Amino acid sequence: MLGASPDTLAPDNFPKHYTKKQIDSIMNEWSVSLGVKCNFCHARNADTNLPGLNYDSEKKPEKRMARRMYQMTVSLNATYFNFNNSTDPDTIHIVVCYTCHRGQSKPNVSAFAKQLDSIERTMHRQ
Ligand code: HEC
Ligand code: HEC
Repeated sequence: MLGASPDTLAPDNFPKHYTKKQIDSIMNEWSVSLGVKCNFCHARNADTNLPGLNYDSEKKPEKRMARRMYQMTVSLNATYFNFNNSTDPDTIHIVVCYTCHRGQSKPNVSAFAKQLDSIERTMHRQ
């Protein structure tokens, strides 16, 4: 898995027992966490006579990135926050997309650094 490019990852990461309803609720959570609509990750139907999005399509890099982010998040929870030895790390929601994204598709890392600098300066003044 480590070092694999997003393109080489298997498309189906969600546990097989997930219902359509559970997947819908994950998709809504991701959209809200990133402040985007479904089409941020899902490509249009290639046949433009068909309405809507093609959820199976792997065309958009954002979808592939989201999959890596999902794997990272599950792995963080399973490795560092599985205090009750759960056999299903997908049920642990300590680190979630919103932890970093806060409603933005790209967390503003340079703004965080500026905030940190200014907090540090305030502390040293005291
Ligand atoms: C941040 C990116 C992102 C957003 C936003 C998003 N999706 Fe997805 N969606 C994905 C990824 C990645 C997968 C494939 C997961 C996997 O690897 O199994 C997926 C899978 C799906 C699937 C197929 C599930 C399956 O494997 O059977 C459906 C249906 C779907 N999304 C619907 C939606 C809808 C509806 C919305 C808007 C409410 C939405 N998605 C928003 C990234 C996204
Ligand atoms: C540990 C912090 C962290 C967590 C948790 C996290 N992300 Fe991210 N994500 C980032 C950062 C930082 C970037 C921006 C990288 C860059 O600047 O290129 C990013 C970028 C992305 C992008 C690309 C956005 C773009 O504009 O191209 C997508 C899509 C994404 N994340 C989806 C998710 C989803 C879905 C989840 C939850 C399953 C998630 N992320 C959880 C930190 C995180």
